[in-house]
Amino acid sequence: MSESDLADSTRAIPELTGRTIVVTGAAGGQGAAAALLLDSAGARVVATDLSAATPAALRGTGLRYRRLDVTDSRAWRDLAGELERESLPLRGLVNNAGITWRSRILEVDEGDWNRVLAVNVSGAMLGIRTLAPLMAAGSSIVNIGSIAALNGHYPVAYTTSKWALRGLTHSAATELGPRGIRVNIVHPGFIETDMTATAPAVMREAQIALTPLERTGLANEVATLVAFLLSDAASYLTGAEIPVDGGFASSAGAKYLADRIAASSPTA
Ligand code: NAI
Repeated sequence: MSESDLADSTRAIPELTGRTIVVTGAAGGQGAAAALLLDSAGARVVATDLSAATPAALRGTGLRYRRLDVTDSRAWRDLAGELERESLPLRGLVNNAGITWRSRILEVDEGDWNRVLAVNVSGAMLGIRTLAPLMAAGSSIVNIGSIAALNGHYPVAYTTSKWALRGLTHSAATELGPRGIRVNIVHPGFIETDMTATAPAVMREAQIALTPLERTGLANEVATLVAFLLSDAASYLTGAEIPVDGGFASSAGAKYLADRIAASSPTA
């Protein structure tokens, strides 16, 4: 499949007509890709992020945008009030907003630690706590985790926050299941966005070397999974964790082993 095929956001879009879906951290990267894909699937998307002005990635798309800092419980309540006043039946939430901080355990500053957990964990909790009461049966919540949630990556605050998000996902899936609300988490691998643009070059190279598909991923390749989970095509899927990572988590370093052995002894 070519790069332009992969970037085509109209591939395999499930039906989401008329569903109101809130997406956080939608100014760019994976959030914007998800918002645009959901929009083209017929959803009424409420795209949110930190900036007051509509972000460049969403300008001219007709997509509804509003400011929402996910760490601000009052802002979540305001959004809920808005949706209720407009009688918009909420059917989905994508907890996508996230930040990284590449400090190791012996260097991490407490303020940075708290900031990462506030956005990546508390932000998602506030979103679920505030918006789930507005959701009818058949609704779906998608949390954006990370492959860092599946093993011990060195940016300790980020890794810890994404592991915590798994706990939140399982707990919310248990609690909200009886109301017909599904909660799942996806674990992207190395996806080309602003977040990874700041990663050391060697990190990208090492990641590719450990990834069976031997490339990084694109934001749309996560968005298609998110759209699927929001749709009725995933109606019996809840509490699930789905990596979208080119096989990185599945291989769990075994690719490195296989490649090293093949290089030293092609017949082994
Ligand atoms: P990004 O940096 O392009 O997008 C993150 C967005 O979150 C930004 O638009 C930012 O303004 C927003 N944001 C940050 N703090 C916020 C707050 N307090 N309230 C509201 N919005 C806030 O990065 P990317 O890659 O699109 O990240 C999306 C999600 O995917 C994040 O949760 C990230 O942790 C996760 N992820 C990314 C991977 C990658 O390789 N790019 C890999 C695994 C997970």
